[in-house]
Amino acid sequence: MTDSYAVRAEGLEKRYGDKRALDGFDLAVREGTVHGLLGPNGAGKTTAVRILATLVRPDGGRAEVAGLDVARRPGEVRARIGLTGQYAAVDEVLTGQQNLEMFGRLFHLGGKRARARAAELLERFDLTDAADKGVGDYSGGMRRRLDLAASMILAPAVLFLDEPTTGLDPRGRGEVWDSVRALVAGGTTVLLTTQYLEEADRLASRITVIDRGRAIADDTPDGLKNAVGGDRIEVVVAERAEMPAVVKVVARVADGEPESDEGGLRVHAPVTDRVAALTEVARALRDEGVRAEDIGLRRPSLDDVFLRLTGHRTETIGTEEAA
Ligand SMILES: Nc1ncnc2c1ncn2[C@@H]1O[C@H](COP(=O)(O)OP(=O)(O)OP(=O)(O)O)[C@@H](O)[C@H]1O
Ligand SMILES: [Mg+2]
Repeated sequence: MTDSYAVRAEGLEKRYGDKRALDGFDLAVREGTVHGLLGPNGAGKTTAVRILATLVRPDGGRAEVAGLDVARRPGEVRARIGLTGQYAAVDEVLTGQQNLEMFGRLFHLGGKRARARAAELLERFDLTDAADKGVGDYSGGMRRRLDLAASMILAPAVLFLDEPTTGLDPRGRGEVWDSVRALVAGGTTVLLTTQYLEEADRLASRITVIDRGRAIADDTPDGLKNAVGGDRIEVVVAERAEMPAVVKVVARVADGEPESDEGGLRVHAPVTDRVAALTEVARALRDEGVRAEDIGLRRPSLDDVFLRLTGHRTETIGTEEAA
């Protein structure tokens, strides 16, 4: 593994009026990896990406992409990056093939090369069968894949993906994840913004959590989840009288103290071996004759991460408005 960074940002600042969109934001993304930038609405993710992609100038701090200062050498940076915005940029009326050819022409590829590159990318993103269909008839997942393909026209060294799966169903999300993995296997470094801990967990080797324009954590997915308490088992009972028995059973299986809440009808505790814990708790409850309403496993969410790291929930962010 090399120690070189594809992206480095130090103390980035960006104000919009009184609003501090970025407030001393730091980031380091290793070459050849997927790095997750995880944060709720309004945390500053898009602002950070737009600065790194040279679309917006920061008010302070500095950033390098592919070893080049974004403020001093924006043209050279642009030649080495791709960007997929939060909202799909493809044209509804054109076909998939036509869309990619158009992007190729925008990058001065020339007709023949643009056509060849379009076909190659459609193949890579599993869209060959839909090449001649109007994008208006594409599913959300197909559209996102076409968007990814468009940002790969010049095979960028660094690709910025701004919430590539927001609004997609699980299948579309899975398709995009596969495409991202394929890109990284091909040597591209990806900075992926997301509001989903699960997404960052699946794709990223490292995650930076952003809150109110600052990085508040930078860790591996496992490190982050462990800091939050990892996966939890949850048992819900119908009768409060059952609780002591449930707490005893859960305590036997869990890796930490069980906690109870929701009017004393729910017990939850951290576990490491998810499936074993689930099976064991179900069996033990049955053996003790305790009837559970529900037994489940819960992965930590962005909201759990936030609560643990900041003491507040994600909903409160971005709703407090700068006048
Ligand atoms: N062009 C702009 N003019 C004014 N305010 C802006 C502008 N762009 C961003 N902001 C504000 O800066 C803050 C950060 O916005 P940003 O879009 O970077 O957040 P985000 O993390 O991408 O959120 P989301 O998850 O909703 O996309 C928000 O409070 C937003 O309202
Ligand atoms: Mg955004």
